[in-house]
Amino acid sequence: MPDKILLLPDNIANQIAAGEVIQRPASAVKELLENAVDAGATEIKLNIQDAGKALVQVIDNGNGMSETDARMSFERHATSKIQTIEDLFHIRTMGFRGEALASIAAVAQVELKTKRADDETGTYIEIENSLVKKQELVAMANGTSIAMKNLFFNVPARRNFLKSNAAEMRHIVDEFTRVALSFPQVFFSLSANGQQIFHLEAGNLKQRILQLLGTIYNAKLVSVNEKTDYMNIYGFVGKPETAKKTRGDQYFFVNNRFIKSPYLNHAVMSAYQEMISGDSFPMYVLFIDLDPTQVDVNVHPTKQEIKFEDEKIIYAFVQAAVKHALAQFSVTPTLDFELDSSIQQLPSIQQPFTEEKRSAAASGSIYKGFTEKHQAHFIEPTKKAELKHWRDFFEGDKAQGPRIKEEIESEKVKIENSQFATELTTHDSRLTILAQLHNQFILAQTQYGFILINQQAAHERILYDQLDMAMNGNAITTQRSLFPVTLELVPADSAVLEELMHDLHQLGYMIEPFGANSFVIQGTPADIEQGNEKTVVEKLLEQYKHFSSDLKFSKREKLIRSVSRQQSIKPGQRLTEKEMQALANDLFACRQFNSAPDGKPTYLEFKLDQLDKMFKG
Ligand SMILES: Nc1ncnc2c1ncn2[C@@H]1O[C@H](COP(=O)(O)OP(=O)(O)OP(=O)(O)O)[C@@H](O)[C@H]1O
Ligand SMILES: [Mg+2]
Repeated sequence: MPDKILLLPDNIANQIAAGEVIQRPASAVKELLENAVDAGATEIKLNIQDAGKALVQVIDNGNGMSETDARMSFERHATSKIQTIEDLFHIRTMGFRGEALASIAAVAQVELKTKRADDETGTYIEIENSLVKKQELVAMANGTSIAMKNLFFNVPARRNFLKSNAAEMRHIVDEFTRVALSFPQVFFSLSANGQQIFHLEAGNLKQRILQLLGTIYNAKLVSVNEKTDYMNIYGFVGKPETAKKTRGDQYFFVNNRFIKSPYLNHAVMSAYQEMISGDSFPMYVLFIDLDPTQVDVNVHPTKQEIKFEDEKIIYAFVQAAVKHALAQFSVTPTLDFELDSSIQQLPSIQQPFTEEKRSAAASGSIYKGFTEKHQAHFIEPTKKAELKHWRDFFEGDKAQGPRIKEEIESEKVKIENSQFATELTTHDSRLTILAQLHNQFILAQTQYGFILINQQAAHERILYDQLDMAMNGNAITTQRSLFPVTLELVPADSAVLEELMHDLHQLGYMIEPFGANSFVIQGTPADIEQGNEKTVVEKLLEQYKHFSSDLKFSKREKLIRSVSRQQSIKPGQRLTEKEMQALANDLFACRQFNSAPDGKPTYLEFKLDQLDKMFKG
């Protein structure tokens, strides 16, 4: 009998191998962006067509390739990043396998243009199905541009396996976000079908986080920064009030590589214990830097899983560092309204965390001891007993609800956050409403100066909180219209409205379908003027569509934001003193009273001592 084992032709072997590296357009996005970063680029542009199914193009201004290297780069196991097996344990680059471009060329049509600064001309290569179709010299700027076209054109089974454009685009934005977060000093842009979605100027990590994850985190980030001989950790975690019901904005990077680690995620979550409810997820963007010999990055084809030499130390360190950061923040009041006496008695308030103490803590024995003992210091959850009481008082359990509500009403004491005792009162002369300015701002005197409340931003915050509660609990009461109004919509809008109808009902809007593209508005929330229903719903849809290009938010989040924007008091609306007082009271009863849902401030504070200084010049 003849022998039957044959070597597979290169292009088939490559296609099979590519399956591990390139699963969807987003995988190519990750590989190409990482190559650009490894090439030392300071400007990286990503262009997408048809959610990456038609085109993924990355243009960088990095160091480019010679003609030979350009050709070599598509070979399997061809890399400039490691030479020996030892190098694998000292990796500082994102790439090291020499597989990405070979894989891409096996399953798509690729056009590469590349030029080094020292070369007169660049190289152009066209390749598909692992075969070079064309190679010539081109005039071009320094750097590299790679276009991957028609992914899986030669593997229809895999092409059919791709998800909807919206889903694939979401994966692309995820990968883009990860790389852009870990290199804030690099300019990045992302355009899809000719429209720019992100334009990220080079800056620092904090700016990059706000650009990518949203300004809702403005003034809501707590810095984490600890150094030891063994490892460093830095980055930001969100204040507890920014925790979300969905696990979204959580990022770990080890030596700048994004990784998924349920184990380290657990370490962060445990640092938040008692501060957030069990079903919500804090935001974090944390970077761990340690000697590459202590990490094995070569355990998974997509490099998103890694193995630590000693996982327990890392866990303990992450947990301690986050706890430490949160503890520092918790004792720094953010608003100097007069503090309620029982809160003032908390030792943490009486002894504010000064710069002096902060640096003492940072250089203190905690973290030094940590490396010596290979064990993290355990920071006692401060003053749990007292804070627990405050939490009960303000959040209450269901049975106690009415009593607590009464207490709150009678005392008019509001607290920003159960764990972090920042508090203010609005029921007496300590917050005196003075005037409405330009029918837009409310001027109020406080004990330490004055504040200017932005009436629209404040009202949006109030509405947002009410709607959020309505969405998760008791629906807002509907006031039935005396004369139900019909609404005719274009098909696209009518699809949107149909999708939202159920949630809208929860928010007090009773809308029923009435034939093709027609609806009847049976009722609206009580505070909407009768006769206005049609305009209100139309504007609401407009607002919703405006938010819907935002991939970050869930349908409900977008709806709540739209309704609160739409129903809010606008500039130009005159308010009575009673209305202003009510607005201020309601605002400061909100947990996040200092910012509107979009992160912009609801009020500005001017303190006497600042004013003094300004007048002294
Ligand atoms: N944008 C670029 N600019 C300059 N050189 C590049 C660029 N992209 C790729 N290269 C060169 O091509 C080689 C092959 O790239 P490829 O992505 O296939 O492998 P790698 O980055 O070395 O490893 P990995 O497979 O882990 O990504 C790289 O080692 C690098 O020398
Ligand atoms: Mg690579």
